[in-house]
Amino acid sequence: MAKQDVILSRCLEDSLSAVVERVPHDRLFVLTDTVTLRLCWPLVSGLPCMAEAQMITIAPTDENKTLESLAHVWTSLQRGGATRRSLMICLGGGMVTDLGGFAASTFKRGIAYVNVPTTLLSMVDAAVGGKTGINFGGMKNEVGVFNPAVAVVLDTAFLRSLDRENLLSGYAEMLKHGLISTTEHWAELMNFDLEDIDYGRLTDLVAESVGVKERIVEEDPHEHGIRKALNLGHTVGHAFEELALEENRTVLHGYAVAWGLVCELYLSTCRMGFPRDKFHQTRQFVKEHYGRFPFTCKHYPRLLELMAHDKKNLEVGQVNFTLLADVGDIHINQTATREEIEEMLDFYQSE
Ligand code: GLY
Repeated sequence: MAKQDVILSRCLEDSLSAVVERVPHDRLFVLTDTVTLRLCWPLVSGLPCMAEAQMITIAPTDENKTLESLAHVWTSLQRGGATRRSLMICLGGGMVTDLGGFAASTFKRGIAYVNVPTTLLSMVDAAVGGKTGINFGGMKNEVGVFNPAVAVVLDTAFLRSLDRENLLSGYAEMLKHGLISTTEHWAELMNFDLEDIDYGRLTDLVAESVGVKERIVEEDPHEHGIRKALNLGHTVGHAFEELALEENRTVLHGYAVAWGLVCELYLSTCRMGFPRDKFHQTRQFVKEHYGRFPFTCKHYPRLLELMAHDKKNLEVGQVNFTLLADVGDIHINQTATREEIEEMLDFYQSE
């Protein structure tokens, strides 16, 4: 997989112009969603490098990361005269960068695309690392390809208009990066004041967080090994998210990841001896900022089924976890028995 250029932007105009100039193209398209169009496009629309851009707009949120939205993007590219030499800028959150990346990767067998993430979640996770795709058949990111954007432009100016829930959602992925890197980075994240955000400090933390992801992706772009570290919290998190989707409950991805982290750290404590003090601190942090995911024992069979169907599992019926023996001490491909998983869910319910 080609290496992705991640640009920490201090001036959006300079960074975007440089990227648009660097990638030869005949036509320029900007894909965004209706909310980002209102909140973030005004920061970009007046830039000279955007003068010729043709806009493609889709409905926001993960429920719209569908085949229908994808077809709409393909149709718009076709009607707009896109060729293999066209360039698409995906401006938005993870939904736009995932779906846009997939649309670009498949249109005429692949055109170049640039990610300009506008949410914290997409800055630290979705937009970086080349995973693209859509939800399908009730499963998240079920269909997609690995294909990196030619560049990712990270500018925290967009975060000023981000609501608190979406900010927290992205912060959960940062917390995950803390847990899989160093105790120092994890402690910095635990001590950051989320009630009174210092945006300068947040920018530094974002840079550090993206660095954690970049190093891992560079080592294992196609997730054969160490990239699975990035799945910490996601085996349970995705199952919570999918259950919520089935029951028409809205749950933001990062909230599900935060709840999943608590469950999987519980498993890590029981199975790998993850330090209890760090587990309790993380658990307390999550409880305070994210609350908890409500479910009952009635949901256990479905949650187990969803975990067993996770595309990250190596064998049919087995549930695969990434666990920690300490912060940064990562153990991938850990399977757990049905009893262990039920005990973990019992613990979480008793929270
Ligand atoms: N979101 C996890 C990864 O990119 O591998």
